[in-house]
Amino acid sequence: MSLASRIATVFALSAVVAGSLGVARADGGNAARGKDLSYTCLGCHAIENYKNVYPTYSVPKLRGQHAEYLVAALQGYRAGDRSHATMHAHAASLSDQDILDIAAFLGGESLKASGKAPPADAPQAVQVCVACHGSDGVGVLPEYPNLAGQHEDYIERALEEYKKGARKNPIMAGFASTLSAEDIKALAEYYSDEPGLKTVPRRASRFSAR
Ligand code: HEC
Ligand code: HEC
Repeated sequence: MSLASRIATVFALSAVVAGSLGVARADGGNAARGKDLSYTCLGCHAIENYKNVYPTYSVPKLRGQHAEYLVAALQGYRAGDRSHATMHAHAASLSDQDILDIAAFLGGESLKASGKAPPADAPQAVQVCVACHGSDGVGVLPEYPNLAGQHEDYIERALEEYKKGARKNPIMAGFASTLSAEDIKALAEYYSDEPGLKTVPRRASRFSAR
């Protein structure tokens, strides 16, 4: 087998694996039920510019996020793979169906890629990120989080956490380890400036979740 066809086979296999892992993960979420279950979540996630304390950084925006990614994040907190004491406490008692329903409600309609090329003055380091997060910060697969419009300080925090291994994800750990402090600042500024994610509306109706 030629190298090219071996590479093609690996890609085809990983697509099959990704496809089978992705089956129905975010399908079947009931946004109306998710709204009831999200009541306590809105106390932080529906307040503009709400901050985590010790250390201080913005609570992430969820509206417009891919439901599949929200499901993965909540499963990560529930399992303790992703450490954050408050989020672990909130996720610990949720069933798989609760998580699907909550993700459908909080995420609402996911952002759509604009398909635009990065502007000429985009930070050099963004070339590495676009394959998964797009040049406009819209994840090209539903398991790649949208970054467009996310709080700048939260993006910085996430990249620093991957870099030091405090937030465990083999893909992101690899990419973050190559970034300098300046790269992290520039990338966080770039993606947070793109139009996109929003704070969940305070009086979120399940209808605006569509
Ligand atoms: C006390 C405030 C607070 C409450 C209440 C809260 N969260 Fe969070 N949430 C946070 C903070 C802070 C983070 C970022 C944690 C980190 O750094 O990983 C976060 C992260 C998340 C993320 C990951 C987002 C991303 O971009 O990776 C999801 C999803 C989420 N919360 C959903 C929920 C849900 C669902 C509930 C209710 C069951 C909830 N949160 C309740 C503060 C809160
Ligand atoms: C091969 C695909 C891929 C590439 C390339 C990639 N990422 Fe990611 N990124 C992911 C995945 C998958 C996650 C979710 C990981 C997790 O669950 O913690 C993620 C998560 C993130 C998060 C956390 C988002 C949140 O809401 O918490 C940030 C920030 C991020 N990536 C920034 C970047 C930047 C900046 C680059 C370029 C230097 C980059 N990524 C390159 C796949 C990728």
